[in-house]
Amino acid sequence: MKAIILAGGPGTRLRPLTCTRPKLLMPIANRPLLDWTFERLSWAGVSEAILAVNYMAEAFEKHFGGERYGIRITYSREEKAMGTGGPVKLCERLLKLEEEETLLIMNGDIWCDLDFSALEASHKRNVSRGAVATITLYEVEDVSRFGVVELQPDGRITAFHEKPSGRVESKLINAGIYASTSQIFSYIEPRKTSIEREVFPRLAGENRLYGFQHRGEWGDVGKFEDYLKVNFRVAKSLAGEKPRIEGSVEYDSTVKLNPPVILGDGVKLSPGSKIGPNAILGRNVTVGRECQISNSVVFDGVEFGDGCLVKGSIIGEGVLLGGNVRITGGSVVGDLAIISPGVKLLRKVYVCPRKEVEKSALGPKRIV
Ligand code: GDD
Ligand code: MG
Repeated sequence: MKAIILAGGPGTRLRPLTCTRPKLLMPIANRPLLDWTFERLSWAGVSEAILAVNYMAEAFEKHFGGERYGIRITYSREEKAMGTGGPVKLCERLLKLEEEETLLIMNGDIWCDLDFSALEASHKRNVSRGAVATITLYEVEDVSRFGVVELQPDGRITAFHEKPSGRVESKLINAGIYASTSQIFSYIEPRKTSIEREVFPRLAGENRLYGFQHRGEWGDVGKFEDYLKVNFRVAKSLAGEKPRIEGSVEYDSTVKLNPPVILGDGVKLSPGSKIGPNAILGRNVTVGRECQISNSVVFDGVEFGDGCLVKGSIIGEGVLLGGNVRITGGSVVGDLAIISPGVKLLRKVYVCPRKEVEKSALGPKRIV
């Protein structure tokens, strides 16, 4: 099996964090999202992957180079954004598929515990019934932000609606992971195009599109709420009822750890702090006395003064928080920002990287 991973989106909905890193390198439980994916792909015997890059392309090459978990990685770089279809077509010339070898195509901004070999096996059965592609499906309540399919009991998809505006009966969405034959390339035009709007409806109309339902964990990390949710789910499955300590960490018996908690290597917690539930602290984070951190993700190298409270928020790499800072309500602080002592950022306040913030902001605001 070989893979094409769509990795070029600008991650607009995750700014300010994606001002300084691509969405696919955002940490999930202290490990870049794509590292999780490569590991799972290697378990399924994927030998080669092409990263279809555009926004911050160099960051991927710097992070992965030419290989990860035994998977050979090459890069396909567009001159300008080509949607979800165009970049796949561009990869055609870089791929040599063996006879009957499965091609996996996926949105890179997905975290899931899918068994890719089970998808492959299902696809191979579908190919014998005429399938070009098999789409991984996932059941959700609100389908409006996704591609939605109409699935027949025999596994055929008879309609595909991308981000439907009206009511649809189906709760099965496109999970953004497809197994296909090389025939898919003949359905994609060499231009900016959407695989969801132009290719899938056509394949469905020709009875050549099938579905494979995934029932484990799945999440798109494209929005802050979802990014946090995915982190907490992974933290729970990794750490469970015990704190997960990754390397050497310092704290005494006055510190309360309330799982799920992940503490990266080199974390130092001062006396009286309460960490968790749902707190992920990156490497070398230092926390002052009597701080409280819950329902939040803290990137590497953040320093907290004494008496800080961080709840339901994300703190970017290398941020400095003065004493008694409060950050809550889905606020997000970009890398290397400096927040002065006593400042409150209370609800959906987004701070740009390297910004020095001296005044509080109580409601939704971008500090640029
Ligand atoms: N190379 C390249 N070039 N990659 C791109 C481009 C581009 O111009 N635009 C988007 N991508 C990548 C993104 O980085 C992401 O990994 C993937 O394509 C999907 O783009 P999103 O912008 O995240 O799409 P979405 O989340 O709104 O919708 C898609 O995913 C849903 C599942 O999460 C669709 O495939 C839906 O049908 C699906 O339900
Ligand atoms: Mg997405």
